Amino acid sequence: MDFQQVFGKPPKTEASAPGRVNLLGEHTDYNDGFVLPTAIPQWTTVQLGLSSDACGGLHLRQHHFYSENFNEQVSILDINHPPSGFASYIFGCIEVLKKAGYTIPSLCVYVKSSIPMGSGLSSSAALEVATLRAIRQLLNLPIDDVEIAQFGQQAEIHYAGVQCGIMDQMASSLADTEHILFLDTRTLERRLMPLPDKAEILVIHSGIPRSLASSGYNQRRAECEEAARSLGVKALRDITDVKVTEKLPEPLRRRARHVVTEDNRVLEVLQGVSSKRFGELMNASHASLRDDYEVSVPGLDTLVELLQKTSGVFGAKLTGAGFGGACVALVAAGEGRNIATHILEQYKQAGYNGQILVPSLGLSDAA
Ligand code: GLA
Repeated sequence: MDFQQVFGKPPKTEASAPGRVNLLGEHTDYNDGFVLPTAIPQWTTVQLGLSSDACGGLHLRQHHFYSENFNEQVSILDINHPPSGFASYIFGCIEVLKKAGYTIPSLCVYVKSSIPMGSGLSSSAALEVATLRAIRQLLNLPIDDVEIAQFGQQAEIHYAGVQCGIMDQMASSLADTEHILFLDTRTLERRLMPLPDKAEILVIHSGIPRSLASSGYNQRRAECEEAARSLGVKALRDITDVKVTEKLPEPLRRRARHVVTEDNRVLEVLQGVSSKRFGELMNASHASLRDDYEVSVPGLDTLVELLQKTSGVFGAKLTGAGFGGACVALVAAGEGRNIATHILEQYKQAGYNGQILVPSLGLSDAA
């Protein structure tokens, strides 16, 4: 079913936005810290029309959303009853724009995506950014790409119930597949950087669905805020010496130690590091996410260990929030697909079923 088949008229406009993979700086963004994501070559596309133009018995004054991936149509009958699932993100974007003072007519929205969902590659941020871009285009709204990211984050927090930071939406709105995006999430200062020499990025799904992702995530965020309060700082980003975290009670001590060391790892990359060192920092990040932040699961640990002991791999870690989902590895240029095939065999022998999501993102070629 395409837009015309669902809504009876062709779309008036369309926009797309990519997913992202985060190389370093995990769970630092809601602590005002530093992150290093890049866009992936998988996209979400949103096509828009006005409900007042729709045909085929659709209510002309309601919003109508259709997802090609879920083959599901949702109509918003009452704006006081927000929808769930894919529709919550679109509805959230419309509502945050309205709260910001924009008049948004009733819309027909058609969504399709090549971003694997629930794997930690920000399919939700891409849906928000693509929706906001399409609405900006349709109505000629005077909002820039940073505001698009901020509106998307608000939609996610208030309508999808995840107290997320701004990394995913900023990456989807501002990153490209040729660079890594260094972002200071407090000041929003950012810089596009090349990958270190002779390296490419490999992303593999662990096959473990993300469970507890939103409840565990919100709990970690609350723990970090409590740790910052106890230490008398605005956010954990304000601590640079990890020794300061030692006075905290557990588990706040380990949570804060992860954030402080993770911020320091990103800042080290900013100084310029070799592929070997970048990989070591990714390995250290995974250990910290597993032991101090406790957001890994056995399948992710097995996959990361297999990657880390394979020749040609500089380093590997879970990517995104954790609790399941994907791993990212920095590997020797040109080796991504071979390494992935080899690893997936071994992973299968360990009793798991993984999947290649991005075989070889070669940023250094284009940088
Ligand atoms: C999710 C959130 C991001 C970030 C990551 C963890 O993707 O949406 O804001 O916190 O987890 O680094």
